[in-house]
Amino acid sequence: MQIFVTGATGQLGGEISRAFADHTIIPGTRPDFDLADPSSIRRAIYRAQPDLVIHAGAYTDVDGCERDPDRAYRVNALGTRHVALASREVGATLVAVSTDYVFDGTKGEPYLEWDEPHPLNVYGRSKLAGEHDALTIADRCFVVRTAWVYSPRGRNFVKTMLRLAGERPELSVVDDERGSPTLAGDLADALSRLIETRAYGIYHLTNAGSCSRYELASRTIALAGLPARITPVSSAEYLSRYPLSARRPTNSTLRNLAGAALGVELPPWEDALERFLGAYLRDQR
Ligand SMILES: NC(=O)c1ccc[n+]([C@@H]2O[C@H](COP(=O)([O-])OP(=O)(O)OC[C@H]3O[C@@H](n4cnc5c(N)ncnc54)[C@H](OP(=O)(O)O)[C@@H]3O)[C@@H](O)[C@H]2O)c1
Repeated sequence: MQIFVTGATGQLGGEISRAFADHTIIPGTRPDFDLADPSSIRRAIYRAQPDLVIHAGAYTDVDGCERDPDRAYRVNALGTRHVALASREVGATLVAVSTDYVFDGTKGEPYLEWDEPHPLNVYGRSKLAGEHDALTIADRCFVVRTAWVYSPRGRNFVKTMLRLAGERPELSVVDDERGSPTLAGDLADALSRLIETRAYGIYHLTNAGSCSRYELASRTIALAGLPARITPVSSAEYLSRYPLSARRPTNSTLRNLAGAALGVELPPWEDALERFLGAYLRDQR
């Protein structure tokens, strides 16, 4: 297959060439390919004539989206619309990657693929708008919601905890925000299996299980053998000290029912974190 990848420089996009090693990867990168510029999207996808488009590009700065909603909608909603239109026109299957932040986190148990979305912030609303356009425009479409993504490249919670724990003796981390940490490489591998099924629709793909930010930070620091002490704090307490622009869902854990029925499942998050830290810390030495 010829695979056009948006967001190829990002955490997930960067793992696609390894996970799809038997195929030809055509990366869509700025400045030639800009999700905020519909004509550049059409031009790049027409030139590539792909069989599959993996749309992993997005404006992922959650607080940035809150401060600049126009940019959020232009990139995440309208950008996805034009990726879907071009995919349909060239006859490509589309994988549109979305987020747990389409949910408000009040369900009290993991969200199923069919639960009603209700985003709390602009990022979630703009991604939900993108999901809608992807599903209604593309002929063959997977919408894959994921969460709390980390990888060796880019900014993510796990790397931030490692950095801060190297700089400070003590860290305060919220213990009332829950989700499913997801290793980008495991997600890319799962996408390669999901695509084979041709069972188009909405999927929830994260590493299995869930934890609080506090549990994720504690396990990261323990596995890395760092001496920093982690103190659990409530979100309210944390936000009173470090205000953020966007509201976050309290418990946005996703349940993978649709993918699991097809045998597409990811390893537990604890296992993924251990593998990631083993390789990442070795490479840092
Ligand atoms: N990160 C998470 O925790 C998380 C959680 C849930 C869902 N997701 C979703 O998972 C997908 C992959 O996320 P990620 O963590 O891999 O993202 P990421 O590391 O932030 O990378 C985003 C990618 O999108 C590209 N991009 C941003 N704006 C663009 C524009 N205007 N035109 C063209 N490319 C643009 C970036 O390119 P540049 O290098 O040029 O900036 C980068 O390659 C996204 O759809 C995201 O919404 C992520």
